[in-house]
Amino acid sequence: MNEGEIRALLAPALNHQVTALQLFDKIDSTNAWLLEQPAPEIDRWHIAIADRQTRGRGRSGRQWHSPASGGLWMSGAYTFETLPENLSALTLAIGVGVANVLRNYGLASLRIKWPNDLLAGNKKLGGILLDTTQAGSSNLTVVCGLGINVDLGKTTALPAEVARNGDLLATDLKHCLDDVPAMPQLAAAMIAALGTTTQRYVAEGFCSFADEFQQLDWLRGRRVRVEQQEVQEGIAAGIAANGALILRVGEKEVHVVSGSVRPCDPADALA
Ligand code: BTN
Repeated sequence: MNEGEIRALLAPALNHQVTALQLFDKIDSTNAWLLEQPAPEIDRWHIAIADRQTRGRGRSGRQWHSPASGGLWMSGAYTFETLPENLSALTLAIGVGVANVLRNYGLASLRIKWPNDLLAGNKKLGGILLDTTQAGSSNLTVVCGLGINVDLGKTTALPAEVARNGDLLATDLKHCLDDVPAMPQLAAAMIAALGTTTQRYVAEGFCSFADEFQQLDWLRGRRVRVEQQEVQEGIAAGIAANGALILRVGEKEVHVVSGSVRPCDPADALA
């Protein structure tokens, strides 16, 4: 895969917005790399894609297993002109955008485990990691990392603790689709999803994604354990207008804005 192949698949307006598109054979982490680079201009994207990451980063300080040619390991840095409201829900909106691409490839079972896990058939297919950095006095740059497992089987057998991401087993597109998209197609589709999702987020906010997220919500109705300063157990009951996870604890409703959420039923976690 090279830059020209990906650019040939991007619409002209988006090609213009993507002012840097760099591909690496090997890098520590595409998110970490973009965070170290000068920020893109306002309303412009810098994209970094790696064949392999040696220190791929997942949420909550976890390692993200990123073997050579095993998946799409991609990050996009984007600078907002003005700070969008409720930035914490951007991860959820991007999840919806990415999920729609994968569902268009025929992955009807695609669900999102709040806030950032992409699940297919109860297994972890991918994830999203958002980092933010201040580009100027008021401009905000986000680095949106996207990991999608495409063919983990090409590599040596995964050690169990890596294959299990948190409490979820890993899967890849090869096990989920008859026709796996070629890497340049997948990369271009995901860059387009980042572009359109961000534009819609700026124009309409998270509320325009909330219904779609509810349709894709894997946690809804499951008994879960939320680990913050304190640990709480309850039934996941959808999301609030601001993207917070609603947890029903007895008679109470608790809104969870951060923290790690695990299903209590081991059958869910290890399905
Ligand atoms: C998660 O589910 O915990 C988030 C995983 C995000 C992984 C991607 S791969 C490309 C980008 N670079 C990183 O180091 N992480 C993200």
